[in-house]
Amino acid sequence: MTRLLTVGVMLAVAGCAAPTPEPVDVSVKSAALADRFQADLQGQLQAAMKADGPVGAIGVCQQAAPAIAARLSQESGAEVRRIALRERNPGAAPDGELRERLEQLAAAPLTADGKPAVMQWTSGSGAGARAHYMRAIPMKEQPCAACHGSNIAPEVKGRLAELYPDDKATGFKPGDLRGAIAIRWPLASETR
Ligand code: HEC
Repeated sequence: MTRLLTVGVMLAVAGCAAPTPEPVDVSVKSAALADRFQADLQGQLQAAMKADGPVGAIGVCQQAAPAIAARLSQESGAEVRRIALRERNPGAAPDGELRERLEQLAAAPLTADGKPAVMQWTSGSGAGARAHYMRAIPMKEQPCAACHGSNIAPEVKGRLAELYPDDKATGFKPGDLRGAIAIRWPLASETR
């Protein structure tokens, strides 16, 4: 699937005169950003879970996740965010084409060898041209189920309800698509 998608990106690129993006470069840079996002957040989440348990860790997640997204966006020049079909943070709900792609990812969140699936595509043209990268965030039992599973402790539920009255991000099973890291590059600056 990855190979087909890569070919798709290259065909899309061949079809327009300028700018000339480097799909491989976008892919490598995006994967590195997604890795950093995951590693940073996981580090902070694990430390908070250990120190304060899940109720205390909710606040860390709430502060840390948007802060990491903002920092990586600023550093890279790409737009880096987390998205979900059943979101907790209302700002994580994607619309339009991004939602359609995420629905496709939800149907197959893992590759044949069990890695998070990746989708890449381009959109727009001229100054509006963008290269997109989206990597699945699969649900896991540990530590995710404490805050996204079906059997959430009452005090965790209570805190989540206070902070996220429209929370849709519970009831997930291991292997489900919990969400995705979505990265969007302006193509023109990508070729510098
Ligand atoms: C301590 C509770 C807690 C744990 C444990 C936890 N999360 Fe979350 N998760 C949250 C909170 C709170 C948010 C909302 C953050 C925000 O406001 O941006 C969130 C948001 C997310 C989002 C962004 C989309 C959305 O719905 O807003 C994803 C994706 C996500 N979590 C995946 C995971 C995965 C995968 C794990 C396990 C590795 C995990 N979470 C573990 C509390 C938790």
